[in-house]
Amino acid sequence: MIFETESAHMELKGKTVVVTGGSDGIGKHVCLKLASEGCNVAIVGRNEARLLEIEDGCKSAGAPMARSYACDVRDPDALAQLCKEILEQFDVIDVLINNAGVWHKTSPLDQIDAEILEATVQTNLTAVMQLTRHLIAPLRSRPEAIILNVVSKSGVVAQAGQSVYTATKYGVRGFTEVLKADEQDTGIRVAAIYQSGTNTGMFSKANEDVPNHIFTEPDDLADVVVFMLSRPPKIWLHDVRVEI
Ligand SMILES: NC(=O)c1ccc[n+]([C@@H]2O[C@H](COP(=O)([O-])OP(=O)(O)OC[C@H]3O[C@@H](n4cnc5c(N)ncnc54)[C@H](OP(=O)(O)O)[C@@H]3O)[C@@H](O)[C@H]2O)c1
Repeated sequence: MIFETESAHMELKGKTVVVTGGSDGIGKHVCLKLASEGCNVAIVGRNEARLLEIEDGCKSAGAPMARSYACDVRDPDALAQLCKEILEQFDVIDVLINNAGVWHKTSPLDQIDAEILEATVQTNLTAVMQLTRHLIAPLRSRPEAIILNVVSKSGVVAQAGQSVYTATKYGVRGFTEVLKADEQDTGIRVAAIYQSGTNTGMFSKANEDVPNHIFTEPDDLADVVVFMLSRPPKIWLHDVRVEI
């Protein structure tokens, strides 16, 4: 006997997705996978050479439209300009993936440089709120809008030496929870992913030596992101914990 079901995945094809930190690491793999699903992709980062490489990669993978944007998300004026350009060029936005982030070397608070403290807060927390603030109205106008924040295990577990990084990630978790409540009736679905160590260059950029090879592969994590985004209308994974 064949049972009929009404379950249909959310169609990613044709959706327009903004990915911050799309020039490297986890975000790069997310962009390429979404492109192969037929999404239009707006890729945000700073490194122009890597951005252009991912833009080309997204086009080859099947994105009808892929554009990269060199923007330092710590700069509020640049963020406002970025949103204006993305909306002009893509017309609509269906999905926002807040992923850009930086690490600071593990150490007691008084050994974390004041500039690194500021940069970590601005990149990992302030920029997430500012960018979301700019894009939330256009997202509300779309029928299947999603905001997905790539957070960290450090958004739920306090680990020694990570004071500032953990403060930013707990902050993004709190922000995500309130957004979920605020947007309950607008149709925007809000989610966050809290993953442990992932095999990217994030640690080496902060001169931190970690056993990267045992960490989750960013390509596998990107599969989780695509799975979360493509759930049918009556099921939603709003909180996903990933461990190695
Ligand atoms: N790797 C891990 O173990 C791990 C674990 C848990 C959570 N996370 C989180 O996952 C997210 C992605 O991390 P990742 O491992 O993929 O790191 P990554 O490989 O270092 O990539 C970080 C991305 O963020 C962008 N970025 C950083 N600062 C920026 C700025 N000021 N303006 C614009 N873009 C900026 C980088 O772009 P440019 O290089 O072009 O500047 C890059 O594309 C972060 O939020 C991180 O906290 C990572």
